[in-house]
Amino acid sequence: MPAAGIWELREAIAFRYSSIFGNRWEPSQVIVTNGGKQAIYLTLKAILDPGDEVIILTPAWVSYESQVLLNRGEPVFVPTNEKFLPDPDLIRSRITDRTKALIINSPNNPTGAVYPAELLKEIAEIVLDNRLYVISDEVYRTLIYDGEHVSISSFQEMDKRTILIDSFSKSHAMTGWRVGFLLAPSHIAQAISKIMSHTTGNVNTPSQWAALKALETDTRYMLEEFHRRRDFVTRELQDMGFTFHKPAGAFYFFFDVSKYCPDDTIFVEELLKKQKVAMVPGQAFKAPGMVRMSFAASMSDLEEGLRRLKNHINGEVS
Ligand SMILES: Cc1ncc(COP(=O)(O)O)c(C=O)c1O
Repeated sequence: MPAAGIWELREAIAFRYSSIFGNRWEPSQVIVTNGGKQAIYLTLKAILDPGDEVIILTPAWVSYESQVLLNRGEPVFVPTNEKFLPDPDLIRSRITDRTKALIINSPNNPTGAVYPAELLKEIAEIVLDNRLYVISDEVYRTLIYDGEHVSISSFQEMDKRTILIDSFSKSHAMTGWRVGFLLAPSHIAQAISKIMSHTTGNVNTPSQWAALKALETDTRYMLEEFHRRRDFVTRELQDMGFTFHKPAGAFYFFFDVSKYCPDDTIFVEELLKKQKVAMVPGQAFKAPGMVRMSFAASMSDLEEGLRRLKNHINGEVS
């Protein structure tokens, strides 16, 4: 079995991406991986030399830092603004002669931010001017409620500088099947395929055939349902008095709990212990004082979870 995946799936993905984003991807540039996670890990393994710096925008998904460190790179954290959007000038100011790559994630986990096209264009210019790579984690690209998804790979010349990460985990709710993929410039795709063949080999083939079938599914009903949940949770959290940026994409709310507890980890531990409601502390994303709440749950679970959250902040027992 080819380590990089079954040809039928690689061909279908290349065709799909070429038609959505307007640039031409060959099936040989597509590598099927064990989820988006392995796609990012293998990309870093293929491009980094020890000590190379990788810019990570914060708040950031928890695995980026660890994956850079595991590949002997140096994470360089650059904070985003109050709307969780990056400042291109700040990114530029953090580039050194060791900077190899920048990781972007839109729609974003944990903030729900969706980067507008003009911002992505400015980031693309930085990438091209400095001959960097951009690892563009687009695993939530089908879950957008306000605005639209633009891939940085679609700007001129950017297909040579972008490693696009995607996965069936979020778009088709297939997390346990472990099928992700990346699209990369040919030389990087070839290097990644070699690393895969000497480590994990291919993703199990039944999952790959299932993913090929899943590509034929119209997932708009998922978007509609997530949208309904997003609007419901927005109303409930506002009623409780939380202030936050309504997520434009993905399926998380990220909000400040510091007025209830100075330590976000203690806040979520107590919420779990007393109310049996789980959230992730902001510290995990390099954003202390905040918490991340997922709305990838049924409406009835969300209703109950929010009722318990309300009791918790009001000091009542559920
Ligand atoms: C931003 C982001 N990237 C990548 C992944 C990886 O997902 P998977 O390995 O299941 O495809 C996740 C999963 O939570 C994520 O939130």
